[in-house]
This record gives sequence, structure tokens and C-alpha cells, in this order.
Amino acid sequence: MNSLFLSPQHVLQGGYFNSTLRKLQEPNTSIEPHNIMYPIFLLEDDDAVQPVSSMPNVFRYGLNKLIPALGELVNKGLQSVLIFGIVEKLPKDSRGSSADCKDNPVVKALPKLRQAFPQLTLASDVCLCPYTSHGHCGVLTENGVIDHEPSVKRIADVALAYAKAGAHIVAPSDMMDNRIKAIKDALVANKLQNQVSVLSYSCKFASAMYGPFRDTMKSSPMAGDRKCYQLPPGSAGLAARAAERDVAEGADFLMVKPGLPYLDIVRQTKDRYPNHPLFIYQVSGEYAMIAQQKDSNEMQTILLETLTCMRRAGADCIITYFAPLVLSIISKQ
Ligand code: PBG
Ligand code: ZN
Repeated sequence: MNSLFLSPQHVLQGGYFNSTLRKLQEPNTSIEPHNIMYPIFLLEDDDAVQPVSSMPNVFRYGLNKLIPALGELVNKGLQSVLIFGIVEKLPKDSRGSSADCKDNPVVKALPKLRQAFPQLTLASDVCLCPYTSHGHCGVLTENGVIDHEPSVKRIADVALAYAKAGAHIVAPSDMMDNRIKAIKDALVANKLQNQVSVLSYSCKFASAMYGPFRDTMKSSPMAGDRKCYQLPPGSAGLAARAAERDVAEGADFLMVKPGLPYLDIVRQTKDRYPNHPLFIYQVSGEYAMIAQQKDSNEMQTILLETLTCMRRAGADCIITYFAPLVLSIISKQ
């Protein structure tokens, strides 16, 4: 009798014919609340709420509107947020003075958020670009290039201000060499090193997928681009060296950003640093691409597949604007 059947180990389909068995075949890819971090845009005006035009269902909130919105999500299991401050009234200057002034929306909100949500982990993005007149992530020299030393000093000062205000995690997104060490040193000098951790945007690429975010934050560079500090999209080598640099400087958590086109970098980073929890940032452009799917069931399926694949590639926590939707989906499962 002729048979196509070659050898028993090539018969796979007996191993995943129901959903319980399929779960066993997908280890470490579950999406639980601690695997999700929600980015939020915080306005100066406490009572304002504004939709983000390029990102359906994403809003910018003043604190008084944010608290009830977050309350609902915390009830659904939300465990961590990443806060971005947006200023329209406070002045923007060459060194981003409004990033850590006493009227900065993040500095003002952190103590109140801690009080309102004692169980919620509060991460603060640390960067100068939303606050500088030139829109770059550091301080510039007269020639318009990044002035490294004062940039790192400013970034460490801003991180310390957020730490003092109550952030559990400070997350520098500027990509300057040496800023992780400067931040850790500042935390140690202020006896905060055992209460605040540092999430480094370690492998952040100069991506065109940050467009909707920059519109939202009004943080586009006035001149030039960010290619001299963010990584070239084709460079796995620089991504490896950037992660190595930040681990050596004392980063607690690493990140790859954007997410989906960079899953090889996620795997590479996780393999090299298995003992550092790895974040992935599903950025604004990725959000917009998935959110434009009209059929909501189809959209949810695409979203969950994408998040599962990020977990499979090695991400421990996914920063996503879809957090509210993900929490509703998983709380029903
Ligand atoms: C700024 C910053 C950016 C993002 C997070 N922090 C934009 C940039 O570097 O130009 C992107 C987030 C997103 O697109 O969702 N340092
Ligand atoms: Zn920046």
C-alpha cells in the first residue's frame, strides 16, 4: 500500500486541534494586564478633553478629565500608564525649561494620580522635545547640533523632577549616550534609587511611524530630523550596541520602538538580555494602521494577533494606545 505518510514526527496537527491544546503550543504569549502599558497625553488645562484627529478613540486629557477615564480602566485591570505632558501656554525655550517647572502638567499631576490610584504604576516619559522651541530632544550648540553634556544634564534634572513628584518609572526617550547613568546617579544622590526605576527607550529607531504622535504633542523638530540620535532603521548592530550601552549604564528595563517592523530587534535584544524585562512600543503610526480597519471584529483579531506576535518575539510589556480595548477583550475571556 502506497502512503504519503512519511514519519510520525511530521504529523503535527494532532497536537493543536482544540483551543486548550493550542494554548500549550503558545508559551509566554498570553496577554495579561501586566503585559500592557497605556500611554496618556496630559494637557495643562485640567478640565480639557480633546480628541486626537489622526488617532481614532485617542484623547488628550486635563487631569480632572483623566482621573475618571483612568478610574474605569483601573477597574478593568489597568496596571500601568506612560504619561506625556503637552504644553500650549507654558513657554517653549532652547533648553526645555517647562519640562520640569512647577507648573508642568506632569509634575502637577503625579502626586494626585498616586493618591487617586495607589495601585497604578506611573511611568513618565522624559524628553525635552515637547518643551524646546526648536523641537529637538536635547539642547543644541550654536551650530544646531546636539550639545551632549548639557543635554544629558537637563534630561537627568527632568527625570529627577518627575521622580520626586511621584513617578515610579522614568522613561527617557531622547536616545542620548550616557543619560541612563546620569539619571541613575541623580536618583542615588537623592536616595530614590530603590523607589524609582529607569525604563530606557534603548532601541529607538528614526521611524516615519511617529507622525500622529508628533502632531498630537506638537513636538516635531522645527529644522532637521532626529537621525543623529535615533537609530537607522536598517541597523541591528547599532540596536545591539545601544542596548549594551544602556544595560552597562544601569537601565532596569529596555525597549524596542516601533514594534511590528522591528520584531527581529525584539528577539535579538531578549536573547542578549534575558534578565532585563523588555518593552515594545506599538507607536502611533502602527495604531493608526490597525485602527483604520472598519470591521471591528476583524480589527480586534488583527490587534490580538499582533500583540501575540510581539510577545512571541520576546516582549514582556507592550505600550499600546489600544490598552482600553485590550483590557475589555481580555476581561471577557
Ligand atoms: C519623543 C517621543 C516620540 C514618541 C515617544 N516619545 C516621538 C519622536 O521621538 O519623534 C513616539 C510615540 C508614538 O509615535 O506613538 N521623544
Ligand atoms: Zn524627544
